[in-house]
Amino acid sequence: MTTTDLARPAALGGTPAFPDGLPLTRVRVPDREALLQRIGAVLDSGQLTNGATVRELEERAAELLEVPHVVAVSNCTAGLMLVLQAAGVGQGRPVVMPGFTFSATAHAAHWAGGTPVFAEAREQDITLDVADAEARLKAADRPAALMATHVYGTPCQVEDLQAVADAAGVPLVYDSAHGFGSRRKGVPIGNFGLAEVFSMSPTKVAVAGEGGLVATRDAALAQTLRTGRDYGNPGDYNTLFPGLNARMSELHAAVGLAWLADLPARVAHRGALVEEFRTVVAGLPGLRLALPEAGDVSTFKDLTLILDADAFGLSSAELAAALKAEGIDTRRYFHPPVQRQQSYAHLGQAEDLPVTDRLADSVLTVPLWTHMDAATVRRVAEAVLRIQPYAERLRAAG
Ligand SMILES: Cc1ncc(COP(=O)(O)O)c(C=O)c1O
Repeated sequence: MTTTDLARPAALGGTPAFPDGLPLTRVRVPDREALLQRIGAVLDSGQLTNGATVRELEERAAELLEVPHVVAVSNCTAGLMLVLQAAGVGQGRPVVMPGFTFSATAHAAHWAGGTPVFAEAREQDITLDVADAEARLKAADRPAALMATHVYGTPCQVEDLQAVADAAGVPLVYDSAHGFGSRRKGVPIGNFGLAEVFSMSPTKVAVAGEGGLVATRDAALAQTLRTGRDYGNPGDYNTLFPGLNARMSELHAAVGLAWLADLPARVAHRGALVEEFRTVVAGLPGLRLALPEAGDVSTFKDLTLILDADAFGLSSAELAAALKAEGIDTRRYFHPPVQRQQSYAHLGQAEDLPVTDRLADSVLTVPLWTHMDAATVRRVAEAVLRIQPYAERLRAAG
């Protein structure tokens, strides 16, 4: 291997930064022994659902989130559906939400009987643009709810969103799939709006295998959700409303508890890794990161680059190809944005969100996982650093 090999991007014949490949995410249970013991206890109890482990997970999550009620569900999508149903979304009424989010935000509104109305993203951090959401709420016919997503774990403008929701007289529901461990001005995400719904699927910072947690300060809502996750059955099989089977199993709760054990430390470690990355790429033209506002904390569920293709010299798709040659896995979270997806073509909003379109074209998520070390993050950042000066040649070789 020569110095030139090292300096040249792999896409132009250099040596790949990760010859064995670097996946986007890697799941490793924090304390395997403790988890196996807990799973053993669940099996010994003879009760695989509706048991003490789910209750323990709910209590532990409520403590961490500093919120009075947490209801565990089978996944975040089902949790959002139940919250929206409980909030009275239905009859095709409009639910204003970001176009820049994961499809499940919109799907949940659809399954609850609402109709998504997509609103723009903020340039700074790609969370919901409050002014645009307000305008779309005002223009909508009898809007039923406002939804917002803490994209990558970046806290939304929660104070302004609440003011807008209050003025419109609609509930505010957060898709907080990425946000377990994030904080807005010191307050844990989980305390805002009518309810916040977290995901515990494997790409998240707190994992149950599959799972979701609804956090709310509203005791009546929490009770409705407990009934709703169990078919709407209050206990006597005389269902109160058409619920779901959205229970979390005891085994999933056992896994989830293992991940909550040292969550604050792991969120802090992810923040330090992002800082490491930022330091290496600082000064590169046309590249910035999706970062929380000063004083806020992000889980950095994803480490996402935002590229200005003209200044950087490569689009996010072109950089993804160059990183692939380095052995580095990437994703374009979230591209295409939801208003452009086939599922929602019938709403006719595909051309409605120019800022969201531009941002969705600009993003590229690179590998980050909790037990990754600083040297690996640095190598990913150095690969980006190595690629950029060759942008023109890479494009020509294209
Ligand atoms: C923003 C967002 N919302 C909802 C979901 C769905 O979560 P779940 O798989 O737990 O239903 C995801 C999953 O990645 C997501 O990224």
